[in-house]
Amino acid sequence: MTPFRGGNVQTVRTSPFEGQRPGTSGLRKKTRVFMHPGYLENFVQSVFDAVRGDAGGDFGAETLVVGGDGRFYNREAVQVIIRMAAANGFRTLLVGRAGILSTPAVSAVIRRRNAFGGLVLSASHNPGGPDEDFGIKYNTRNGGPAPESVTERVYAGTQSITRYLTLEHPDVDLEREGSVRVGETEVVRIDPLEDYTAVMEGLFDFDALREYFASGHRMLFDAMSAVTGPYATHLLEGRLGARAGTVLNGTPLPDFGGHHPDPNLVYAAELVLRMSGREAPDFGAACDGDGDRNLILGRDFFVSPGDSLAVIAEHARDCIPGYREGLAGAARSMPTSTAVDRVAEGLGIKCYETPTGWKFFGNLLDAGLATVCGEESFGTGSNHVREKDGLWAVLCWLSILAKTGRSVEEVVRDHWRRFGRSYYQRHDYEALDAAAADEMMSGVTESLHGLAGTPLAGSRVERADEFGYTDPVDGSTTSRQGVRLFLEDGSRAVLRLSGTGTAGATLRVYLERYRDDGGAGDVEEVLGPLTRGVREMLRLRERFGTDEPTVVT
Ligand code: G1P
Ligand code: ZN
Repeated sequence: MTPFRGGNVQTVRTSPFEGQRPGTSGLRKKTRVFMHPGYLENFVQSVFDAVRGDAGGDFGAETLVVGGDGRFYNREAVQVIIRMAAANGFRTLLVGRAGILSTPAVSAVIRRRNAFGGLVLSASHNPGGPDEDFGIKYNTRNGGPAPESVTERVYAGTQSITRYLTLEHPDVDLEREGSVRVGETEVVRIDPLEDYTAVMEGLFDFDALREYFASGHRMLFDAMSAVTGPYATHLLEGRLGARAGTVLNGTPLPDFGGHHPDPNLVYAAELVLRMSGREAPDFGAACDGDGDRNLILGRDFFVSPGDSLAVIAEHARDCIPGYREGLAGAARSMPTSTAVDRVAEGLGIKCYETPTGWKFFGNLLDAGLATVCGEESFGTGSNHVREKDGLWAVLCWLSILAKTGRSVEEVVRDHWRRFGRSYYQRHDYEALDAAAADEMMSGVTESLHGLAGTPLAGSRVERADEFGYTDPVDGSTTSRQGVRLFLEDGSRAVLRLSGTGTAGATLRVYLERYRDDGGAGDVEEVLGPLTRGVREMLRLRERFGTDEPTVVT
């Protein structure tokens, strides 16, 4: 069985690199690590070797999609992958023009064109540049991130790899659309906007959204010099008639203009500023580096991601044609606020609780158990693709605003009046000493059984556990997904270490307190005791020299 065709295939000898285990969302490392000769090649070859069996042992009938968020090294990586995919015998390669495809667009292309899978080049919301981050992720036939069974096979491959396959072939001109041959593989450079736009048109009432802008409403969308620039300009200013200048930072730059392309209150400060004051636009939004995250703002008003998911679930059937049949179910990652659970209960549908990482929603969406899902980390999406989708969330909100005639703030306050409010914050402690962080987590985990009944934050711990998950569709299990502390007063604290960081360890502390008070409280005040209690319990100051988080979202 020869896995490849073509005459000039080269077999290049190589040896394993350490640390190529995919994390929460693919393999992420410093860009220079990826630029090390053989590093990217080893990983890509290990992916191909891991999934060749799923193609019946041969890629000769299969299509692979390749694109990225335009960050530094994107183009070079695309050229490497084109040669390797051709050498590994793929029939067709679909490459976004200029190497560009947002993460949800890769998912849309895989699904619409029946591709075998795709490679997404991105480190998401992490900064880009020669001294910043790069990443690669493999998505399967359903358009979603590969499940752990696949990523573990990939990892095993990276540990024993001895050769990779490539072709001698000059770089492909990525600036043009259309088809070229590389070896025996047809490489088609596609319009990165086409498939994605078609999927959005199938879900949303573009006429109603045009009417929203035509009647004078104003919006600002910050593309953060990342991949959503062209998508948002085309959709919002082009198709929906939002006024010129609606899209800020709309040109993707290899270093994202030197910023963190992370749409939260800290890194989207310019947008937050422009959304304040009586003259501010009606609606503000931003997406991250690769276009799967979203930030939603009203005038002087921030919508917390957990509330955004809940509000979208609440209004989807009535405001968005693509969901007019209603939702089959909802899903959220465990640390995400429980706001959507209450909407699901109100709608009489089930709400699933999954580990952190979008890949865990894949089976629920494929099996039709959930229609919308989301994470506290500014990720929201639905069964239209198998990635979270930033612009989709923006169009959902536009639809809700257009249909209800209310402002962003009014929509959220209505929600709080109906369902009560989950006061919620995530505190990140970045670049901690990894060994000290591991030691702290094992310490907490070991002490869990003794925690019940102990005082915390003016209340008492009712129960404490480590979250584990059994997938209801395929029965696969995932353990050690974060420590949960449930207090007698209904508050909850969750602790886990990040699986996407590239330097040291990042501790995430998720704090939530539910109150049926119409949402009038101040989040800092409501969460104050819990915040202090958890910091003391973890002895953060003693261990790391400070108990002030790097980022609060
Ligand atoms: C983070 C987020 C998680 C998200 C992932 C990829 O992972 O917390 O919700 O799916 O990025 O965007 P973490 O660093 O916490 O492992
Ligand atoms: Zn992202």
